[in-house]
Amino acid sequence: CVASQAFTASTAFAAKPLTIGFSQVGAESEWRSANTASIKDAAKKANVNLKFADAQQQQSNQVKAIRSFIAQRVDVIAFSPVVETGWETVLREAKNAKIPVILTDRAVKVSDPSLYVSFIGSDFVEEGRRAGRWLVDYAKKNPGKQLNIVELQGTTGAAPANDRKKGFAEVIAADPKLKIVRSQTGDFTRAKGKEVMEAFLKSEGKNINVLYAHNDDMAIGAIQAIEEAGLKPGKDIVIVSIDGVRGAFEAMMQGKLNVTIECNPLLGPTLMQTAQAVVAGKPVAQRITVNEGVFPAEVAAKEFPNRKY
Ligand code: AHR
Repeated sequence: CVASQAFTASTAFAAKPLTIGFSQVGAESEWRSANTASIKDAAKKANVNLKFADAQQQQSNQVKAIRSFIAQRVDVIAFSPVVETGWETVLREAKNAKIPVILTDRAVKVSDPSLYVSFIGSDFVEEGRRAGRWLVDYAKKNPGKQLNIVELQGTTGAAPANDRKKGFAEVIAADPKLKIVRSQTGDFTRAKGKEVMEAFLKSEGKNINVLYAHNDDMAIGAIQAIEEAGLKPGKDIVIVSIDGVRGAFEAMMQGKLNVTIECNPLLGPTLMQTAQAVVAGKPVAQRITVNEGVFPAEVAAKEFPNRKY
């Protein structure tokens, strides 16, 4: 009788679905939509009760969402931080409430690494380096004059903006012909990418040889601006961007984008597995990275049918 009671209790416990509170950055890009879809889909498949909150690119909304998850006593809090800094207080509140926190996609800068249990996402510095390596190689194959680069940065203070800038700058420093002449945020959106590119074209005229965009959406917005200025994107201005979304492959097949560096948004299944492991008391890695490639325009048509986002 005791054994059967114990069995019933543990079965009931195992059947209780896990509740995860997830605070998403927003819906700023094609990449982000794929990331949200991956998380929602994986939660459904894993029978996880997902409480999803869209922060609309505002850190204050994320802090509010995390506090509400703490008040609701969710099993795990996961979030993709809009910016890197300013998280100590709210993460300590989660830790004091004994709710484990998992970071996805973007990292935070905190003095106490025990404020989160795991970070699942890309190596953004390496993505920036890959973009830089492609350009250094391009410059080698096309020797001659100085190449003036304009840079569309991601959201100010966001890990991918900081890291992609750093990795790219580190690699192009090896070639004195490569020079960043303008650099400004386009907030990871198409609309802002277009607007800032228009301003770059106005101030620099035909002096721009290369555009480095921290994501495909800003590159796609900038392509519009370049065409409206009567120039040929991908030819008059070489374009290097990051993410590897379908829109970038389409632009490459049209000859308007030269290369995209992959950033994998399909983090949902790993998030669910990690959350389940944490709640079951199993050890998890503090850093989980994902495998990513580099796709130049020459391979776009062949790769396009294989793309999952
Ligand atoms: O944090 C990942 C970045 O955020 C993606 O590169 C970008 O498209 C998104 O907005």
